[in-house]
Amino acid sequence: LTVDDGLRTGYHFQPPKHWINDPNGVMCYKGVYHLFYQYNPKGAVWGNIVWAHAVSTDLVDWVMLPPAIYPTAPFDVNGCWSGSATMLPDGTPVIMYTGIDGENRQVQNVAYPKDLSDPYLREWVKPDYNPVISPGPGMNATAFRDPTTAWQGPDGLWRLVIGTKDNHRGLAMLYRSRDFKRWAPANRALHSGDTGMWECPDFYPVNDTKHVLKVSLDLTRFEYYTLGEYDRDTDTYTPDPSLADGNDGLRYDYGNFYASKTFLDTSKQQQRRVLWGWANESDSTAADIRKGWAGVQAIPRKVTLSLDGKQLVQWPVAEIESLRGAHVNVTDVLVKSGHHFEVAGLASSSQADVEAAFQVMDMDMDKAEAFDPAWRAVDAQAVCVARGADAKGGVGPFGLWVLASDDGGQEERTAVFFRVFKDGGKHVVLMCNDPSLSSQADGLYKPTFAGFVDVDLAKTGGKIALRTLIDHSVVESFGEYGKTCILSRVYPTKAVGDKARLYVFNNGESDVKVTHLNAYEMRSANITSDAAEPTSR
Ligand code: FRU
Repeated sequence: LTVDDGLRTGYHFQPPKHWINDPNGVMCYKGVYHLFYQYNPKGAVWGNIVWAHAVSTDLVDWVMLPPAIYPTAPFDVNGCWSGSATMLPDGTPVIMYTGIDGENRQVQNVAYPKDLSDPYLREWVKPDYNPVISPGPGMNATAFRDPTTAWQGPDGLWRLVIGTKDNHRGLAMLYRSRDFKRWAPANRALHSGDTGMWECPDFYPVNDTKHVLKVSLDLTRFEYYTLGEYDRDTDTYTPDPSLADGNDGLRYDYGNFYASKTFLDTSKQQQRRVLWGWANESDSTAADIRKGWAGVQAIPRKVTLSLDGKQLVQWPVAEIESLRGAHVNVTDVLVKSGHHFEVAGLASSSQADVEAAFQVMDMDMDKAEAFDPAWRAVDAQAVCVARGADAKGGVGPFGLWVLASDDGGQEERTAVFFRVFKDGGKHVVLMCNDPSLSSQADGLYKPTFAGFVDVDLAKTGGKIALRTLIDHSVVESFGEYGKTCILSRVYPTKAVGDKARLYVFNNGESDVKVTHLNAYEMRSANITSDAAEPTSR
């Protein structure tokens, strides 16, 4: 069996065809959201990279515009790679991106809108004085890229960060400028870690005292962040002492989510920080070429600091709920040990938004499997590989089978679930996405993804929440209201279109109650090329 090319997404952003990767330069200008992204105009594999461009008034429906930034000059002949937008105090947006020059060196270039009265900012001008930042002597010119949005310090100078590496050390290099034209490196990096190359850094405040530094690790293909304190006078960033860089650190997403970038959305009454991230395919390159497309953007997520200040919390922007259609509701249903039931009644479960809460009974909490001390040395993913969706536990696994075939999920299903362990007097909650039975097609990469969820079941009355956005080949899940997120790409061959089913399952020894579950059909977003105005609903 081969991968169905009918698995394009209905409401996760993707262009009509070809390869996409990182979101770039996201911003809101004159009430219009701009999404630029890495794009190959010639095919469904990475290469020939330009900045494709789409605009929206609601982050849901999009109008595709011609590429905004593409190779034209010696400083970007070999590609226009990732970068960010900054709003200057007079309201002019400026883009800084990585150009691959004639010698395949990575240099940073600026581009300005040609016509500020065009809310679509269709055309961008690259001044002749580019590049504005080149790799200095002794620097790795093939690993020096992805400038962040700039911010102004108390001295009025602009600052930004560029990702690089020094041998095995990932570095967030700080640069300063008065005029956005001449840039000077700071004496020391804003931060570094023994992790390999830092791609796509992002640095932003989450409240008056805390900043976030996020990097994308090309070695693991995961993104990690620290929370910390940033001293604006000395440009010193100090991660909170309990937080680690790299593999042991916090992640935005424990699944297929990479090269992300936030922007501050000031267009609403209440400012919000919105995160965009790219989800790669996990089928084969040959399948991508046959499908003619590869890559989607995750649903934009609002990012906030958790109440205890220990981690970030992410939630799909509220606008996405405007796509919700018919829905079914389940209230207070007990799922017995080893049982599952279908959430029936949706015309199609291949494009849906499911919100649910599961409750473990107090008397059952003791039945939780003991957390193996050996697991302390490994990450959640390894635990979930050892204890997948079908391995019976004391409490859990319980959760959803999504994109399941209509034979009770026998032939195909993707399991999104929780498992509860006992560790001393505490409970440890694991959230997993297990796609091992997701497809009968060959040549797929089907990694199990998992993260721990920081939830105290004693305080929630044994309850844990799950939201899953299902979109044909995307399963994007938010555990405990966005504390743990997992995006997974799957390629069902049977659970396609109106044949896709949704189930609740409980493979644990203890019964579990679904206190509520709302499953909504999702309409498709309007993604049009070439329209005069973005359509507003
Ligand atoms: C991350 C990345 C960036 C680079 C871009 C090239 O996915 O490798 O570091 O700028 O993609 O397309």
